[in-house]
Amino acid sequence: MTDQRTPLVELKNISISFGGIHAVDNASVDLYPGEVVALLGHNGAGKSTLIKILSGAYKRDSGDILINGEPADIRNPRDAKKYGIETIYQTLAVADNVDAAANLYLGRELKTRWGTLDDVAMEASAREVMGRL
Ligand SMILES: Nc1ncnc2c1ncn2[C@@H]1O[C@H](COP(=O)(O)OP(=O)(O)OP(=O)(O)O)[C@@H](O)[C@H]1O
Ligand SMILES: [Mg+2]
Repeated sequence: MTDQRTPLVELKNISISFGGIHAVDNASVDLYPGEVVALLGHNGAGKSTLIKILSGAYKRDSGDILINGEPADIRNPRDAKKYGIETIYQTLAVADNVDAAANLYLGRELKTRWGTLDDVAMEASAREVMGRL
């Protein structure tokens, strides 16, 4: 049975190659509101590459991304974030030159009213998150 609702996220005929390797070859995925979806495949199947395209880390060779039925302009992770798309990578992706709070707020730093980094607020809220964990 086909779903009549508009997908929240629609990946249509996405392809990308690295040299001669067709990492993602004409992949289409529909994601509906409230769904929890797992993408399964063997090592090197192209799962991470497809997600990197959705999250703006890689530029697709062809295909479309639609959000709520509208073409989405996702050229980098910041664009993706505007659509509420963020990625947590399987590989370690922390900046080891800054502390846990700074990592937690990487790219979304809390600022004081003077526009400087609000380290006190970030540390306090990082502690709260750690406590919950
Ligand atoms: N930046 C890149 N440059 C060249 N080849 C790449 C690049 N990224 C991915 N590939 C190749 O694309 C293919 C798909 O890789 P991808 O990492 O997407 O697979 P995966 O399904 O996430 O695998 P795994 O289960 O191991 O995480 C592989 O052949 C990989 O070597
Ligand atoms: Mg992967």
